[in-house]
Amino acid sequence: MITPETKEKIMDAVRIEEVVGEFVNLKKRGVNLIGLCPFHNEKTPSFNVNPARGIFKCFGCGKGGDAVSFLMDHEHYTYPEALKYLAGKYGIEIEEEAPSPEQQQAMDEKESLFNLTAFAQKYYEEILHQHEEGKAIGMTYFKERGFTLETIKKFGLGYSLAQWDAFTQHAKKHGYKKEYLLKTSLTKEKDQQMYDSFRGRVIFPIQNLSGRVLGFGARILTSEKNKPKYINTAESDIYHKSKVLYGLYFAKSTISREDNCYLVEGYTDVISMHQAGIENVIASSGTSLTSEQIKLIRRYTSNITLLFDGDPAGIKAAFRGIDMILEEGMNVRLVLFPDGEDPDSYARKYRPVEVKEFVEKNALDFISFKTRLLLGETQNDPIRKAGLIREISQTISLIPEPIARTLYIQQCSELMEIDERLLVAEVNKLRRQKMQRERGHEPPQELPEPRPEAGIQPETQKITNGHQEREVIRMLLQHGEKKIEFKVADEEGRPVDIAIRVADFIVDDFSDDKLGFDNAACQAIFDIYAGHRLKDTTPTEQTFFNHPEPLVRELAVDLLSTPYTLSDNWKNRHRIFVKTEEENLKLSLIEVLYAFKLRRLEKMIEENQEQLKAATEEEEALQLLDNDSKLKAKRSLFAKELSRIITR
Ligand code: CTP
Ligand code: MN
Repeated sequence: MITPETKEKIMDAVRIEEVVGEFVNLKKRGVNLIGLCPFHNEKTPSFNVNPARGIFKCFGCGKGGDAVSFLMDHEHYTYPEALKYLAGKYGIEIEEEAPSPEQQQAMDEKESLFNLTAFAQKYYEEILHQHEEGKAIGMTYFKERGFTLETIKKFGLGYSLAQWDAFTQHAKKHGYKKEYLLKTSLTKEKDQQMYDSFRGRVIFPIQNLSGRVLGFGARILTSEKNKPKYINTAESDIYHKSKVLYGLYFAKSTISREDNCYLVEGYTDVISMHQAGIENVIASSGTSLTSEQIKLIRRYTSNITLLFDGDPAGIKAAFRGIDMILEEGMNVRLVLFPDGEDPDSYARKYRPVEVKEFVEKNALDFISFKTRLLLGETQNDPIRKAGLIREISQTISLIPEPIARTLYIQQCSELMEIDERLLVAEVNKLRRQKMQRERGHEPPQELPEPRPEAGIQPETQKITNGHQEREVIRMLLQHGEKKIEFKVADEEGRPVDIAIRVADFIVDDFSDDKLGFDNAACQAIFDIYAGHRLKDTTPTEQTFFNHPEPLVRELAVDLLSTPYTLSDNWKNRHRIFVKTEEENLKLSLIEVLYAFKLRRLEKMIEENQEQLKAATEEEEALQLLDNDSKLKAKRSLFAKELSRIITR
């Protein structure tokens, strides 16, 4: 475990431009450096490195972060691996804290489980290649499935003898303890008899990201109805099936390179596809897809293509997969195989180029996929069409990123020939319902309604204050530590100048008015500033770049690398000569705060009016009407104040 002091030394020494410069050709542009983004394909550079802040940001694909996250994204390092790389680069000696006795014991125990599992893998592999039974039964089976010797060796496949305890005896003879044999579930115990879990089965070892074997899948070779087709390793300290993807070790570099990952059903599909030359293939074997597995894939790509056979179970799994992948903010495409075929059988029947061509040509986005499956020939049946629209809206509502939601809504509206505004309303409704169900999570970022066409009442527009919220947080992040001066009257009424930190001004202002943020990441950043206000300090940018919550990290990087745009508006709108935001910090700050509050008020007015529409009691309606005029009065006051500030 790397000590916090070492971490600090490393972060102090790191120069982002030198770290990124190893992988990207950077050129100086003003105070920043720019280059071609290594995370997406582009011809003109939109990848920015800001040495002063120690961050990078691509304005093309949106990726951004500090030197550590660059290495984690680009080189797929884990956090400690990235730190070690940087320590090496800057000649910093790593001090590691000695693990506590409990930590040591847990590590020793895990190591023992790994050792035994590696021993078992070698044993099963040797049986397959050397033992008469292994060769006659196991090897024959694999050859019949079309696996080449090269493939069999690459995946470390094996065979377990059809005897009660051949492996258990062998392991005991080599000094492996009963405790670990049971913990890895390689051996079972009944009535004080130890026996092998895998008997007369072919063995598929399951590797972790660095190639170490964690567990096994074992397939039966007979067609006995009362025995399971596969027996998989049980959960243990080293094997968590919900966090493992079969084949990822072999696939990860191709997944990165191709920026896409094929997801299939099981071991044999992965292996056959590999053999057909498609190496970016993995499977969630033994479980249905989990969100942890999707997050694991995200380390290499944000594009997943699901390959399923077209039977009802396959389609059901595909539907579930679509929703889960979109919910994680990733892109999903689907390929359905023709009747009775799965990736494995298809790869055996056709030549590698044909397989490749098939999956590339037949990949559908999820809207086309659902449309094709659910609507089929009955394009004109209005009831089925309504059902399908609801179904697709439901899926779109799961997508966290508003821009992606908007694009899918546009596509759906074109494909289904339905008014975009209806879809937006439906999706927003579903998002509100979803958020209500999971109270406590991030509140909905609603889509703004599309611009109303002439003749449509603006009242139907939903007000969102995402932009205003971000502007307040941007002020905190970019200028929090700077001071602005105010004239106030002292006890005798003489004007005196006082200087106050921007962060303190905002925090106090918000606390006085009891204002909060809709966006959870904005709120989190604000809360950190509020906490520092009490201690009379301001947080450093590192606090946000290293924040445990990814949304907070992303927002901070985003706002700190967004070039300032308001001053241009200012110049154009008010013909004020403004050099930088800094020179007019006080005015900018007040404008941002007023704009936020004005938006807030508009929202309150809208909500009040909605209640008014729904009101049934006269008493209630009068109260709401009163509210309405009070809010509107306040709004015009605010608006006047705001225009006074910006035209002064
Ligand atoms: N699977 C499992 N447990 C089972 C059945 C299936 O874990 N009882 C998983 C395995 O990962 C398997 C995948 O689901 O690879 C696909 O199942 P299936 O196609 O039935 O297995 P195959 O070995 O490919 O059999 P077949 O030759 O009949 O296609
Ligand atoms: Mn199969």
